[in-house]
Amino acid sequence: MNATIKGRNEIKGEVKVGGAKNAALPLLAALVVNPNVTLLNLPDLTDIKEMLNLLQKSGINHKRKENVTSFSAHDLNGDLSAIPSKIRASILLLGPLAVKNGEAILSYPGGCSIGKRPIDIHIQGLKAMGFDVKIEENFLRAKISHKLREARIRLPFPSVGATEHLMITAAMLEKTTTYISNCAREPEIVELQKFLNSMGAGIKGAGTANIKIEGRSNFSTVDFKIMGDRIEAGTYVILSLINNGEIVINGVEESSLNYVNFLREIGANLIVENSKIVVRPSKIKGFHLETAPYPGFPTDLQPQMGVLALVAEGHSKIVENIFENRLGHVEELKKMGANISVERNKEIKISGSQRLNGANVVGKDLRETATITLAATIAEGKSVVKNFDILYRGYEKVNDKLKGLGVDITLKD
Ligand code: EPZ
Repeated sequence: MNATIKGRNEIKGEVKVGGAKNAALPLLAALVVNPNVTLLNLPDLTDIKEMLNLLQKSGINHKRKENVTSFSAHDLNGDLSAIPSKIRASILLLGPLAVKNGEAILSYPGGCSIGKRPIDIHIQGLKAMGFDVKIEENFLRAKISHKLREARIRLPFPSVGATEHLMITAAMLEKTTTYISNCAREPEIVELQKFLNSMGAGIKGAGTANIKIEGRSNFSTVDFKIMGDRIEAGTYVILSLINNGEIVINGVEESSLNYVNFLREIGANLIVENSKIVVRPSKIKGFHLETAPYPGFPTDLQPQMGVLALVAEGHSKIVENIFENRLGHVEELKKMGANISVERNKEIKISGSQRLNGANVVGKDLRETATITLAATIAEGKSVVKNFDILYRGYEKVNDKLKGLGVDITLKD
């Protein structure tokens, strides 16, 4: 599906973000611990549908009624090898299904083309917890080889997925206490701890670099509301800033918006109060941005910040420190006339006050497609964004929401 966007419309109005994709995916994997759960605010996204499909194949069924999704399961099946996985988050099922069924087999995880996306930290962690893990061609096979009373794991890098994967798995290892250090500290990790503890898990320390998990076996039914998507919110903040617009974004958790401080430092006029962000017209100065694990600036907003740098006053430098191939948006922005230099495939230098011209551009991954869509809203004339439907992986009702904020957009299959 392609989108034709006519640039330079007035951007104003209100938008509500959906449930956070990157909180919902680990919560869904955690249903293996206990499927008797009702989730509120589960976002309607293709990545979520993909995960629900994997759960269905493992024996966990769901029923959705408006914003409420309830789950139940009979006997779980650990062999998902027959299902090719299009999403990275499928790896989170490996440990939990191995605990539940004695053994689990998954196809190698998919995901965005922003880097090699290795899973060595996941595998090292499972092995340190007493699992036997094998990579056989395109499959991952895991089973418990020896029960430990205590497991100690130090992550070589604060991997978000590995932290979540090992937390969920350790929560199910009855009579084993697991200590994980150098953990990721993202708000989605805190959300996962809240969810697991609400059903009876014994986890402490999420949000810090050290997490302690006491494995248990009995878990109770729970209702849980998923937090708002901070990256979807940040993308709409940038949409407003680059168009000098005035918008209100609802449905966010103030505590998850660490990037607001950086945006204010470079001139953004933002008011954050009771679960909303008010974006006012702002004069953005050139900036130096480095992405880093939380509480650093999120890599998932790095491409979008490149468009803000194009319209800022003065020069900017952006350094991507998390993924080795997350500058795919640059070549597309250049088609719109952007003057951007890239060094070592990790550093971007951009002079400000640039004007873009509409062009035919290609969506390749989730945040890159969001970025070129943002750029099309400030370009002179019409742009066609190819593969616009990639956005439905992580931006709920994105076409309606953009239209509601004043973007002149029409979709074509
Ligand atoms: C999660 O991916 C998010 N995805 C990503 O969002 C996000 O960009 C990333 O965390 C960082 O914040 C979900 O939550 C579903 P990592 P994840 O493990 O868990 C390396 C989006 O656009 N690494 O923290 O895959 C890895 O290659 C997506 O919503 C290893 O080397 O990220 C990367 O360079 C994109 N070995 C770095 O760590 C491993 O075993 C961070 O990866 C695991 C990771």
